[in-house]
Amino acid sequence: MSNSLIQETKRIVAQFDYTDDDLNKGVQEFLRQMNEGLQKDATSLSQIPTYVTGVPNGTEKGLYMAVDLGGTNFRVCSVHLNGDTTFDLTYSKVAIPKELMVAKTSKELFGFLAKQIELFLKTHHEDHFEALVRRRKSTKTPHGYEDENVFRLGFTFSFPVQQFGINKGSLIRWTKGFDIPDTVGKDVCALLQEEIDLLHLPVKVAALVNDTVGTLMARSYTSPGKTATLIGAIFGTGTNGAYVEKIENLQKSVGGQYDKSTGEMVINTEWGSFDNQLNVLPNTPYDAKLDRESVNPGIQIFEKRVSGMFLGEIVRLAVVDLYESPNVSLFKGISSSTNDQKTTTRIGDGSGLFKQWGLDSSLMSTAVADSTPDLSTLRQELDSHLQIHAASVEDAQAFKDIAYAVGRRAARLSAVALAGIVIQSGRLKETKDELVDIGADGSLVEHYPSFRDMIQEALKSIEGIGAEGAERIRIGIARDGSGVGAALIALVAAGMEKKGITDEPADAIPSAGEPTTLT
Ligand code: BGC
Repeated sequence: MSNSLIQETKRIVAQFDYTDDDLNKGVQEFLRQMNEGLQKDATSLSQIPTYVTGVPNGTEKGLYMAVDLGGTNFRVCSVHLNGDTTFDLTYSKVAIPKELMVAKTSKELFGFLAKQIELFLKTHHEDHFEALVRRRKSTKTPHGYEDENVFRLGFTFSFPVQQFGINKGSLIRWTKGFDIPDTVGKDVCALLQEEIDLLHLPVKVAALVNDTVGTLMARSYTSPGKTATLIGAIFGTGTNGAYVEKIENLQKSVGGQYDKSTGEMVINTEWGSFDNQLNVLPNTPYDAKLDRESVNPGIQIFEKRVSGMFLGEIVRLAVVDLYESPNVSLFKGISSSTNDQKTTTRIGDGSGLFKQWGLDSSLMSTAVADSTPDLSTLRQELDSHLQIHAASVEDAQAFKDIAYAVGRRAARLSAVALAGIVIQSGRLKETKDELVDIGADGSLVEHYPSFRDMIQEALKSIEGIGAEGAERIRIGIARDGSGVGAALIALVAAGMEKKGITDEPADAIPSAGEPTTLT
């Protein structure tokens, strides 16, 4: 690398340093904002009560439906919980048309979702579907079908929602590129139920589920050993976490009905908006520019430094800064000494390098994972993804250094949130040797090289955790939170109906599966 390229890369990389001192300040502030959110509404960490008051132990049984809206795809599935920590899942997936993410009315989006549910039932549960249609013609109930034959559906809706019941909640704000102002403030379960009813489908939206809560439930259902899972976390397109809190610590008022007997409730932190006020979070010029040019400036500030939707853009802005630095030759071919194709580097006209959101975060994983001496995999990807043709090894190395720095900072920030919750729970102190279990899901934690290791390393430097504490924190991948997790919450809802803990008539329980109680 030429000296100036090395120096400039170092200058940029240094801006992403997140020291042990920063980590500890971050955790203190996270704890402060967590507790503020437990006391009142409209705080930066929303700390949303989920009305889920227990986690499963793997013995739960039944057939449920689940749908998942929260990123690029809409998933519909049916889940058979076998009661022995295993489950069978049938699912279909469809990309959400971009225009629906920014539709004029809620109806356009929710109508589309209901249509997908209908298609799924016709394809995978035709017998059930046909039988219900026949029944409907012969019964006199208001919906035209017998309630006990209705599929209970867990609706994974991974956006900040103010819940006021297990299947009720109004949208606080959209995130992750969705923007349909008409939906804000409305009950998203009612919106979906309306469209389902218009199609006369035998489906009741029984539970509203954030993906983090689903992940927590899925991990508890399937996790090895007796340790109850404490946190469900997503490090994917967006980021967020849910955890089990003592009801006595929840001082703000929680309306509606819930089961108080366990003394605990799952709280959806919505940590994506931790420190929107920027008391402690780092704020490089790249972070600031990304935020300014986003659809929601000033909001989801933590998420904008941690999650997959944004990391690629931070890298892009930093790389463009390097490219534009005077005296630095990056991707220009002038000092690209080792171009094996003996051509100068060229950037195609349509390159994503110069377009907002043009650099997909997956390229960071490729960059960091490439340990070939001449970075050939990364150079090929720079070519195919960014139209940077014939990049030199030096240029690719500079790109890799920046991608690594941005990813490492994201992992260390993730440790702040996890550590804050572990400390708040007191679990490390309650016992001497029990593990604290965390279920995590999402593209970053699954695919970004060593993301979990970097979190673990950071945890060791945090006061109140330390090396010994970090050893006892187990972060396991929990897939299918939005499938099996949502099904488990539909089961909780069915159990509540059975016990009469609901605002609705306690008419029936699902015939598809007898709900068991959660422990
Ligand atoms: C949403 C959360 C969600 C997270 C992960 C965030 O943008 O606000 O509700 O859990 O993304 O999908």
